[in-house]
Amino acid sequence: MTARPLHFNAFIWPNGYHESAWRVVDDDVRGVLGLPYYADIARIAERGLMDTVFLADNIAIAEYRATHLPQTQFDPISVLSALAAVTSHIGLIGTGSTTYSKPWELARRFATLDHLSGGRAGWNIVTTVTPLAAANFGEPIHPDHADRYARAHEFVDVVRRAWDSWEDDAIIGDRERGVWADRSKLHAPRFHGQYYDVEGVLPFPRSPQGNPVLVQAGQSGPGIALAARYADLVFSGPPSLEAAVEFRAEVHAQAAAAGRDPAQVLVLPALMVTLGGTEAEAQEKARRLEELTSPEFRWQNTLYTAGLDPDAFDPDVPLPAELWTGQSAPSSRAELLYAAARARPDASLRDVAGRLTGGAGQIHFVGTPEQLAEHVIAWQDAGAVDGFTIMGSTLPYELMTFVDHVVPILQCKGRFRTEYSGTTLRDHLGLQRPVVPGEARR
Ligand SMILES: Cc1cc2nc3c(=O)[nH]c(=O)nc-3n(C[C@H](O)[C@H](O)[C@H](O)COP(=O)(O)O)c2cc1C
Repeated sequence: MTARPLHFNAFIWPNGYHESAWRVVDDDVRGVLGLPYYADIARIAERGLMDTVFLADNIAIAEYRATHLPQTQFDPISVLSALAAVTSHIGLIGTGSTTYSKPWELARRFATLDHLSGGRAGWNIVTTVTPLAAANFGEPIHPDHADRYARAHEFVDVVRRAWDSWEDDAIIGDRERGVWADRSKLHAPRFHGQYYDVEGVLPFPRSPQGNPVLVQAGQSGPGIALAARYADLVFSGPPSLEAAVEFRAEVHAQAAAAGRDPAQVLVLPALMVTLGGTEAEAQEKARRLEELTSPEFRWQNTLYTAGLDPDAFDPDVPLPAELWTGQSAPSSRAELLYAAARARPDASLRDVAGRLTGGAGQIHFVGTPEQLAEHVIAWQDAGAVDGFTIMGSTLPYELMTFVDHVVPILQCKGRFRTEYSGTTLRDHLGLQRPVVPGEARR
């Protein structure tokens, strides 16, 4: 392979990422609640030698979503543990909230997945946008954007200390002397920060990757800063090629300023794909999906994904101006919504919000496998990406097409692996395995 290798992450979502997916696929509507659905997708992605499968997490759902979309937000680590048993190589990335988890517990759960999967775990670090989460966790308030990111920095730091609380060679297994592990190689975090107190070591030795792979998908200034400081993978990115080049350069510049090697930070933004044997066929599939969308869902979902409670707003009047004057936005997506409302202050919320996409702000690529391969290569060659997080608009169908028709083109062009060369997720991504830091950094 002469060019830098591409990397692909398969985003798992019930019936596909397009909001109308469940209405166009013929599958049993309840199939998305069973392990075979997830296992099928993971096996397809592994057959295509993709780097990872990814599970999002939403810890509070606004009830309007149950009307419009399949609701299958299981605990990601439980699902990934089951997938570890039915796959052998593919990376397993799950989302975990820094605002609504305890760091020692989260460190333990991802390190468990790393052990059980033989070194294939990754953690998508999110601060949780929706304010509805607070009430589910008995919290009086949902912390604001700046506060959530401040906590996230400390949270990730202490998680890494917990992961590093056993040196790699701590197990001795000396039956003769009756010593299972060398206690001098255990290093309790004894962390007392502004937000968290974590005292003791994890209850098992260091996991195969040392640290599971860290992922970040926020696009705001604080989101980029968190990614630059800690993330191995970044799943966000703006929709235009020029802005994406700038975004990746900014992430790399900030990573270098934080003393990291920018080549160890890979950017794989979300890309929804609808593929066809001809461009017309792909366009027809996309048109059918769009035709079935609900305007009611669109405005509500734009608010929800921006971190606002749709039930608190009247869609037939403009977004209250006090929101977009003065107050800080709850997310980068809310900033986009506020900018749209500012540009058209007399337009109804339904109209303004309905024109923005919800979800992860991804591009929807519609075309043939050849065209998608060209798109991927053009974006990589421009320096915008290291690959993509592939969201099949319908699943598993678009992922099957990607694996069977796009991957072979990229392989022929020497842009994608023809076999897994290692066993851990860090191996697939070409990432170093972190060493346990010396005394000075503990
Ligand atoms: C590909 C992708 C996946 C995401 N997955 C989740 C998720 O599972 N749970 C979540 O709460 N937020 C998720 N997000 C949202 C981001 O993590 C982030 O919270 C959001 O963009 C707001 O942060 P920002 O203001 O820094 O952009 C995802 C975003 C992207 C682009």
